[in-house]
Amino acid sequence: MNRPMVEADKLQYSYPDGTAALSGVSFHIAPGESVALVGENGAGKSTLLQHFTGCLFPSGGLLKVAGLLVDRKNLPAVRRAVGMVFQNPDDQLFMPTVFEDVAFGLLNLGVPEAEADAKVLDALKTVGAAHLSGRPPYRLSQGEKRAAAIAGVLAMAPEILVMDEPSSNLDPLSRRRLIALLKTFGHTKIIATHDLDLALELCERTIVIHKGSLTADGPTAEIFRNDALLGKSSLERPPSMRSCQPAAPRAVDPDGTSC
Ligand SMILES: Nc1ncnc2c1ncn2[C@@H]1O[C@H](COP(=O)(O)OP(=O)(O)OP(=O)(O)O)[C@@H](O)[C@H]1O
Ligand SMILES: [Mg+2]
Repeated sequence: MNRPMVEADKLQYSYPDGTAALSGVSFHIAPGESVALVGENGAGKSTLLQHFTGCLFPSGGLLKVAGLLVDRKNLPAVRRAVGMVFQNPDDQLFMPTVFEDVAFGLLNLGVPEAEADAKVLDALKTVGAAHLSGRPPYRLSQGEKRAAAIAGVLAMAPEILVMDEPSSNLDPLSRRRLIALLKTFGHTKIIATHDLDLALELCERTIVIHKGSLTADGPTAEIFRNDALLGKSSLERPPSMRSCQPAAPRAVDPDGTSC
């Protein structure tokens, strides 16, 4: 079997104020797998994702990405291997213009300016944000900020793509464009999301985190059919998996809510 791209072994994390956010999570992710990470608000998804780029280090257990132990010594190599789109794009965008922001990581790696410029333009075009290149990120709408943040990560061509709620604040067309784009990536993908239809489309496997522990790990469609499991995590079947019985014809449907 191929070396796993991600190995979490009894991973624990407590925040400095004592909040225990992860209490012994174990799983492996193989190269090229797309894995959705789902769970209620406060379950520990973002905390887990932040370990993949070494923004947080385990309080207990261990984590390896691309064969590298996530620790301070390996941080530069870990950050080359893993690209992360944060839940809040404001945590990610900090340069005076979108173009400079997307270029930042490349220039930091020593990529020559002309080559970096071409990659930046390419990444911005890919996410449909080339027209934003001269704008200051802090003046963009939430959806535009997310597109810019995704471009910054794509430009780096990471081995592992980690996304935290990538579809939040996107209009339906932008969300659809994002799904189509992500379908074309052969990267290993880990996507934390409450958008279970997006998970169903993009991820063959789903991990459920509940109160800091892993409660399920398996084929996405199978997990999303398990109403009891979903309910325990404050989740419900995605709209595309809900059966909609044809309603008896009614004279009036004032709310327009019948199927
Ligand atoms: N900086 C912090 N300091 C202390 N506790 C924190 C901090 N950030 C998160 N937490 C706590 O850690 C737990 C896990 O939070 P996390 O953000 O990982 O959840 P999540 O699954 O991403 O939730 P959501 O779906 O709302 O994004 C929660 O109890 C949260 O209150
Ligand atoms: Mg989160």
